[in-house]
Amino acid sequence: MDISGVYVKVRDLLSLDSSGHDFEHTMRVNKTALDIANSYPKADKDLISLIALLHDVDDPKIFNTQNNENARKIMESQKLDKSLINSVIAGINEISFSKNKDKKPSTLEAQIVQDADRLDAIGAIGVARTFAFGGSKGRSLQSSIDHFHEKLLLLKDMMNTDVAKQMAEKRHEFLLEFLKEYEKEIK
Ligand code: ADP
Ligand code: NI
Repeated sequence: MDISGVYVKVRDLLSLDSSGHDFEHTMRVNKTALDIANSYPKADKDLISLIALLHDVDDPKIFNTQNNENARKIMESQKLDKSLINSVIAGINEISFSKNKDKKPSTLEAQIVQDADRLDAIGAIGVARTFAFGGSKGRSLQSSIDHFHEKLLLLKDMMNTDVAKQMAEKRHEFLLEFLKEYEKEIK
């Protein structure tokens, strides 16, 4: 399947964002999800890429859309099948914390994208994104540090797939190392 049309539209929509939901984040989630999927031959890679590419295009922190309007419009413009569009939308909604709380997504594809999205919130990239997000909201460094304790340090135990659990270990260790060094330096 050729999803380059989707790619271009998502890039146009997200390239102006600076809150950590930028296009590079979306591309990393897509790549990490496909890496994870290599260990799960049954996973549908086209579905994974579509969920990954479109997972933030209706995020209420950036957009004011209803009913996944941006994701639907982008897929309809590419003449994707209705049933595929519905599977992608269901996947996107299941990986969103606000819409699905902490329930595990029902499909392997959505589970994998959720893991990839969470992996992008930890490790060195997670540190960078957290301060970028805090900065974009005019918040103090300490409020971003609080976010490590409230959310980021919990993510490694929330991974759906064994492969992502393994990938999360190293990134989690890096968060702890960063926090240790940070606390030392501000004392
Ligand atoms: P996503 O939707 O991509 O899973 P979020 O919307 O939860 O992730 O957050 C996007 C990025 O912004 C993450 O890197 C996260 O750590 C950061 N972030 C979210 N909320 C806060 C906060 N209150 N303070 C600092 N960073 C935050
Ligand atoms: Ni995301």
